Order: sequence, then C-alpha cells, then structure tokens
Amino acid sequence: MITANEFIPSHYTQSVESGFFQWSAPSNIALVKYWGKKDNQIPANPSVSFTLNNCKTITKLAFAKKDNHASFSFDLLFEGQTKEDFKPKIQKFLERIEIYLPFLKDYHFTIDTENTFPHSSGIASSASGMAALAMNLMSLEKALNPEMTDDYFFQKASMLARLGSGSACRSVKGQVVVWGNQANIPTSSDLFGVEFPHAIHDNFKNYQDTILLVDKGEKQVSSTVGHDLMHDHPFAERRFAQAHENLDQLIAIFESGNLEEFIKIVESEALTLHAMMMTSMPYFILMKPNTLQIINAIWKFRNETKIPVCFTLDAGANVHVLYPENTTEKVLQFIKDELVGYCQNGQYICDKIGNGAVLI
Ligand code: PMV
Repeated sequence: MITANEFIPSHYTQSVESGFFQWSAPSNIALVKYWGKKDNQIPANPSVSFTLNNCKTITKLAFAKKDNHASFSFDLLFEGQTKEDFKPKIQKFLERIEIYLPFLKDYHFTIDTENTFPHSSGIASSASGMAALAMNLMSLEKALNPEMTDDYFFQKASMLARLGSGSACRSVKGQVVVWGNQANIPTSSDLFGVEFPHAIHDNFKNYQDTILLVDKGEKQVSSTVGHDLMHDHPFAERRFAQAHENLDQLIAIFESGNLEEFIKIVESEALTLHAMMMTSMPYFILMKPNTLQIINAIWKFRNETKIPVCFTLDAGANVHVLYPENTTEKVLQFIKDELVGYCQNGQYICDKIGNGAVLI
C-alpha cells in the first residue's frame, strides 16, 4: 500500500526561475457520499463520484524565484480582482502540503482563478478550485523533476487536492472516481482518488447532471463542521459500514447497467447524508421546502413515465438531477415544465460526466 511518505521528494534535478502554468479542474458529484473524516483529511468511509464536465475552475499559477525563503508569498486574484478573504484558506493549504513540495517557500506565486459557474450559485468551488491549484503545483514539481511518471503526477496531485478539500481529490481524473480504501477495489486508497477500475456499462456513458439552484445563500454549516459532527454521532459506525456496502453494490450495478438499482443507491445515499445532519448534535437541515418539492416531483414523473431519472444532493439545498443521455430531451422538458419554478431565479446548470483536469 502506498503511504503518504512516498510523496516526500528527496531531491530535484532541475532548477526553474520563473514561468506559469494553467489548469482547469471540474467539480464532481458524489454518488456514495464522504461525510466524516479522521486526521489529515483521511475519509471515514470510501466514496465514489461522477466527475463533471462544465462546472470547473480555471487557475493560472505564475511563479518567480525569490531571495527570502522564510515564508510563503502569494497574491490571489479571483476573476481578475484581488481576493483577500480567500487567502487564509490558501495559506493553510500551503502549510499542509509544504512537506510534500519543499520548494514552495522558494517562489512568489500569483494565483489567478475563475469559475465557469456563476459566482455564489451555491455550487461549492472548493473541489474544483483545490484540484486546479494542485495540478498547477504538480506541473511546477514536474519541471523540477522531469523524470516523474504520470502515475505519480496524478496520484500526488489528487493527494495534495485532498489536503485542500477532501472531495477535491476526486476532481483530478474522470469519469468515475473512487476515494477511500475499499476491499474489492484493489487500487483504492484513503490518500487519493483513483479512476474506477472495473467495467462501466454504456447506460452511464455521457450520464447527465442538471443542477437545480434552489438556494444560493451562504451555507448554514460548513462541511468542516459537518464532518466533525460525525465524531460521537450515534449512527456513525453503521453509516460508515453502509457506505462500504453501497459502493460494493455499485460495482455490480456499473457493470450490469441496472438503472433501477442505481437509483435506489444514489437517492438513499443523498437522503442518508442529510439524515446524518438531521441526527447530529447540534442538528441541522440544509434542504429547503423547494428541495422536497423537487424530490417529490421527480418521484411522480419517474413513476408515471418510467424514465430512470433520479436526484442526489450535496451538503446544501440544490438538487442534482441525474439521468441517462438517451432521456435528455424528455427530462429537460420536464425540468422546464415542472421544476424551474422551484429554482431561485429559475436558474439551473446543465452538466454531464466528464474527464477530469486539463492543462491549458
Ligand atoms: O470536500 P468537503 O470537505 O467539502 O466535503 C464534501 C462532502 C459532500 O459533498 C457532502 C459529499 C462528497 O462526498 O462530496
């Protein structure tokens, strides 16, 4: 098994004065949810996600060698404007990953970042944002050590992204990514996300995800606080075991293409995630009345039409509507006719399964 120490470099063969890289990295939507963690962003249970295609962060990282190597030095731009309030998170990230990238204090960095999805849409940008930054930092490390293999490059990028935001480690690769040790996925690891290694049925090809923006407000509870509440949670151990069972079942479902079984697991996972929040102490509800309206409308539509459309949720009120490519026309019509009214300002984003981070 790979340990974190293997990502600590011993020496670099090259030196680089200045330059820049630019990467895009997508968001991802978990099917089996990560909720609960141990120290160092080690997940309490394994998770699996679809990498998205359209919702992404594009980050340019410029770097120049500096004389003083005592501290980190960086400027942060969001959509071209200085963004001071993002800096503490980046500072903390750099501190966490310094042991793996010992050159960080040798450079001044300018991090210039933007998202393709609307600002304050309630779509978390931490997964795509941390993944895009991690890819750029790995490009710099590869310039210092050109012998690095592709496997090492992507595994380490995912591991660094994880230290920024857990679910970010699933945004490096496509299309289906597993993060966390799972006995019958031999390549799986708690340290980084890996491409789902088993067969995937054509039913899941170009799988669609339309994100209904129900509530774009600030989250009431950060995911950090939410994960913490799984310590001492009365149902935690059973929940962690259930995630393993659900991932196990998904392996067979991905192979057979059984959408009925797929829907059962995915919707149950979404509701379980929210049930964990409702049964923690303190307890909280992140769904809004319109979240429930949408869920009920999806169930009614599915019953009546037999079209295999389902929902999932992340840690918020927005609803991800998941459906196979060949049902797109009918589902989009349903969304326009019956669901748009539940979205804030009628807003929704059409996305689909994608391939992971890209060097621009
Ligand atoms: O990556 P974090 O710490 O923001 O946690 C995200 C957790 C969920 O989005 C709710 C589930 C998941 O697996 O992505």
